[in-house]
Amino acid sequence: MDRLIDGFGRRFRYLRLSVTEVCNFRCTYCLPDGYRKTAGPAFLGVDEIGALVSTFQRLGIEKVRLTGGEPTVRKDIGQIIARVAEVPGIAKVAMTTNGWNLHRHVADWRAAGLTNLNVSIDTLDRDGFTRLTGHDRLHQVVAGLDQALAIGVPTVKVNAVLLRDSLENGFAEFAEFVRRRPVAVRFIELMRTADNAAYFTDQHVSGERLKTWLGQEGWSPRPRASDDGPETEYEHPDFAGRIGLIAPYGAGFCDGCNRLRVTAQGLLRLCLFGQGGVNLRDLLTGEAEASNLLAARIAQALTGKASGHELARGQAGDTRNLAQFGG
Ligand code: GTP
Ligand code: 5AD
Ligand code: SF4
Repeated sequence: MDRLIDGFGRRFRYLRLSVTEVCNFRCTYCLPDGYRKTAGPAFLGVDEIGALVSTFQRLGIEKVRLTGGEPTVRKDIGQIIARVAEVPGIAKVAMTTNGWNLHRHVADWRAAGLTNLNVSIDTLDRDGFTRLTGHDRLHQVVAGLDQALAIGVPTVKVNAVLLRDSLENGFAEFAEFVRRRPVAVRFIELMRTADNAAYFTDQHVSGERLKTWLGQEGWSPRPRASDDGPETEYEHPDFAGRIGLIAPYGAGFCDGCNRLRVTAQGLLRLCLFGQGGVNLRDLLTGEAEASNLLAARIAQALTGKASGHELARGQAGDTRNLAQFGG
């Protein structure tokens, strides 16, 4: 079935599922004061996640990315990976993590069915990393990433938010990082959220800075696959890995939107920077009839998806930070 097409002809094969709002890091652009618990229902359980993913798969979803908050703070993350992986037709089980406990668990997650792993590393400078995240763990995170490569996780990527403070040596250092590692490092333009307006004004730089640097250094853009995230990747004959750019402020970014989001409490969010959401939770019972109603509710909701975000006009919807909705 291929029922996930919106009013602008965009097809949706990629589901980003947040499994928790909790995060143990304090990234300066996201949760500078750390995660603060707010009242609200518990996060979706493994069975609810199974029911949700099965229905989305029937609608045409083939790739599920587990996000957060930090998905790996959940003790049952291995079971969640396994449950998603066992849904027939889900070809890619992906996860985005800050990497804090990768070195301990990545082999188990791979065995459970994890195929795509994105690790956030904003700087390769140890002190800079500690200042940015609140944790002196750069070494541990890189060790976990190297272990993921060693055990053969099929796709491993790094996310690095483009910040004015780390521009100076950042491009060259990350290029060196991918000289021998078959990893794509993607620089992400800092996005304004309701909580980080002052930080944004101080630290946002355009992705054009990276494009200029890549051009000067001999990197060339490569074509993207239909279920890829929003990045453009660049390659270079002397490097095993790639460098990518995710530029939400760039022209046409939302035209290629191919993904939907569900929050940790089971709200369908049509855009990272939208308003509210459609509650799916009451239909996550796993029964056939509930699944049919759920499929109809999702398809109906999709007709209301807007053409794009309004970040360039300074509007971040009701998104306080990206941990809230899974980035
Ligand atoms: P791949 O599946 O490997 O291509 O990963 P991905 O880029 O889809 O996922 P990841 O979780 O690594 O996201 C990287 C960054 O892209 C995060 O900062 C996300 O918030 C941002 N991002 C992903 N999708 C969207 C989107 O639809 N809109 C905006 N504005 N940002 C997005
Ligand atoms: N702008 C850009 N990227 C962000 N991330 C979190 N908050 C922001 C923001 N305001 C990134 C994280 C992680 C990814 C999932 O989202 O650093 O790499
Ligand atoms: Fe946690 Fe990710 Fe936000 Fe950093 S960016 S505080 S690791 S959710």
